[in-house]
Amino acid sequence: MKSLGTPLSPAATRVMLLGAGELGKEVIIALQRLGVETIAVDRYENAPGHQVAHHAFVIDMRDAKALTALIEQVKPHFIVPEIEAIATDALAAVEAAGTARVVPMARATQLTMDREGIRRLAAETLGLPTSPYKFCNTLDELKAAIQDHIGYPCVIKPLMSSSGKGQSKISGSDDIEKAWHYAMEGGRVSQQRVIVEGFIDFDYEITLLTVRSLDAEGKVQTSFCAPIGHKQVDGDYVESWQPHPMSQAALESAQHIAASITQDLGGQGIFGVELFVKGDQVWFSEVSPRPHDTGMVTMVTQRQNEFELHARAILGLPVSTALLAPGASAVIYGGVDSKNVNFDGVAEALSIPQSDLRLFGKPESFTKRRMGVALAYDDTVEAARERAKKIAATVRVSAAE
Ligand SMILES: Nc1ncnc2c1ncn2[C@@H]1O[C@H](COP(=O)(O)OP(=O)(O)OP(=O)(O)O)[C@@H](O)[C@H]1O
Ligand SMILES: [Mg+2]
Repeated sequence: MKSLGTPLSPAATRVMLLGAGELGKEVIIALQRLGVETIAVDRYENAPGHQVAHHAFVIDMRDAKALTALIEQVKPHFIVPEIEAIATDALAAVEAAGTARVVPMARATQLTMDREGIRRLAAETLGLPTSPYKFCNTLDELKAAIQDHIGYPCVIKPLMSSSGKGQSKISGSDDIEKAWHYAMEGGRVSQQRVIVEGFIDFDYEITLLTVRSLDAEGKVQTSFCAPIGHKQVDGDYVESWQPHPMSQAALESAQHIAASITQDLGGQGIFGVELFVKGDQVWFSEVSPRPHDTGMVTMVTQRQNEFELHARAILGLPVSTALLAPGASAVIYGGVDSKNVNFDGVAEALSIPQSDLRLFGKPESFTKRRMGVALAYDDTVEAARERAKKIAATVRVSAAE
């Protein structure tokens, strides 16, 4: 982008978010602050991002026809996917036609849409260390793969799923059949294919936020945020903190892996590179070519949070990944099923010093739905984690009458 226009005028710079959840909402806010015209798309009405964008649309983004028609109608300059479940072939067609730029690139959205494309790229093309793995189409193939190659414990996952859905860790042959059926039910699309991975007994796991932006000469440069540690429960993130301490050797390995995979995916924007670490050894797990949920902690730790970094990188503006203070995030779950949700204890929560909070504004709460996030900074990550957990626990979600 050579210049930025004014929203709602003919010269406007228009950015369309595909997916308008809590992450998309923050990207939209960051873009709004730069005077960008924003278009939020999601599959349901009043999604968090819809509430802060100039324009809101509800479509099934897996429907290539509907997606193409909307892109033709809106004519965005940039298309920014926030989720994986998108008709990515439609994005590739738009990119090929040159009518809009897909962030970071259509190919990245295609490769990360299921576990196979990205895993094969990382392990087989780029030679990056990953857990041992096999792809299987039948229960018998799965049994053979575990027996002959992977061993126990191992993790079985549907090809297309996120937040740990359909995923199970098993430690013996008695559990294979159950894991197979669980994966079949938990996949995003009904697909008879799973990945089985050897279990990595890591010391800790991190998200390495990696930014591809333009330098003063207009050349792509890669910068890294401080490593983010996180805790997953049933495949869903419940807490994250930054910086996570790492040995120099492990940090260098992590940055090398992140640089390698993001360079291959190309384009401009932020990537969340998920890595497992044991001592100085680092394994690539997966990558999101977009802001990462565990990266919400950067809203309290960094001078430019991951959403601002994404917005700037997309628009070709300079970025800074500087850390301000150690901090932590803790997820606030719905705990109830309701379409009329109430949050109590907010004043009490925010009276905790060095605290902040985001309530996403989701129109409907489910027991396990992420409704908000508590944020805190402190002198150490340990202290920040305690604070963030206390803030999250102080907010009470209930169904209003
Ligand atoms: N091979 C493995 N060895 C050890 N732990 C694993 C392995 N695979 C997954 N896990 C654990 O399960 C978590 C979720 O796995 P993964 O990231 O592959 O699933 P996901 O459904 O894509 O989750 P999300 O969308 O939240 O990133 C990981 O963060 C890690 O804690
Ligand atoms: Mg993951």
